[in-house]
Amino acid sequence: MSQSDSDRNRQAVLNAFAKQTGWCEGLGSPFTARLLTVLADDIAAGGITAELVCAWPGDPIADALALRMAGALHALVLTETAPALVACYPPHAATIEQLRSIVPAVVEEHRSHIQTFLSSPPQTNEVGRSGVLVGGFLQIAEETGLPLRLLEIGASAGLNAVWDRYLYQFGAADWGDRQSPVRIAPHWEGLPPPLHAPVQVIERSACDMTPVELEDPAQRLRLRAYVWADQRERLSRLESAIGLARAYGPRVDRGDAADWVRVKLKEPVKASATVLYHSIMWQYLPAQSQADISAALQRAGDRATDAAPLAWLRFEPLHPDSRPELRLTLWPRAWEVCLAVAHPHGNSVTWSGL
Ligand SMILES: C[S@@+](CC[C@H](N)C(=O)[O-])C[C@H]1O[C@@H](n2cnc3c(N)ncnc32)[C@H](O)[C@@H]1O
Repeated sequence: MSQSDSDRNRQAVLNAFAKQTGWCEGLGSPFTARLLTVLADDIAAGGITAELVCAWPGDPIADALALRMAGALHALVLTETAPALVACYPPHAATIEQLRSIVPAVVEEHRSHIQTFLSSPPQTNEVGRSGVLVGGFLQIAEETGLPLRLLEIGASAGLNAVWDRYLYQFGAADWGDRQSPVRIAPHWEGLPPPLHAPVQVIERSACDMTPVELEDPAQRLRLRAYVWADQRERLSRLESAIGLARAYGPRVDRGDAADWVRVKLKEPVKASATVLYHSIMWQYLPAQSQADISAALQRAGDRATDAAPLAWLRFEPLHPDSRPELRLTLWPRAWEVCLAVAHPHGNSVTWSGL
């Protein structure tokens, strides 16, 4: 590689780290922002981090390279493999100078673990999004009065498939299992969703291109490692949700969402409301898969009746940098509404409902 190619690569990687640092600051992870700044400085200085990431063959932003690096280091902390790093990770409050004096040496010592970790894409499953989706499920139950047949695409580990095992706080009101170890309490603006809707789940199915196998300790570790280290409440909520999903969750089918949806929506199922739902996954689908899913929904929607309605519930940003919206389309009448806008992790929700 020529000098100018290698300078260009390094600059592209530094841009990706700077972008991710800004996102971490904006989404409430100052520690990860500090850590990424230290790593970026090491890259700029041609240190060990540069050796590991500057020859990245793909697009470092699209591949979330900076997040992979933060995940690799957090995994070392969670397994207590690098005591020096544990000592400067939350709950300890290390300064940026302390991080600078420790992180490059840890990267050097654990370079083979880091290389392996970087080689697979990030895998996350944000339980907080159940705190947004639940309003949609309640609204569908209220509107249709029917049991729910739940189909989730891009389900990851399936943690948002057991949403009815969690307890939710909507301002002064609550809904869910009051004994649940998972409590989700977003900052809530607006009226609560219809809390007295009759919720009964008769089917729970899910699919993902690369499902997280919760019975595999290494995959559980990866899921935990991708939670930002200073968001300790999220981490402990994730642990509890993993326990519930292992006990009660569906097996997440491995496969492409478009193929799976075509099969699942082939026949209407009477006396139930079929709900196709997803959160923060639509942007990862190729345009053709998006078009195929939309067409399958349209065909199934045309067949829907009051005894077998179809709902499409999605929590997705309309544009890459906009706040995600919870949108619902309900057939047979085919009306569409934006029920809420919310923080991407579900930390805050502005509910408008119907
Ligand atoms: C950012 S994660 C979101 C996971 C989960 N929905 C959540 O909100 O926590 C995106 C998920 O989409 C999955 N995915 C990407 N492309 C897919 C496809 N073509 N079919 C099915 N799942 C896909 C990924 O494997 C990943 O689990």
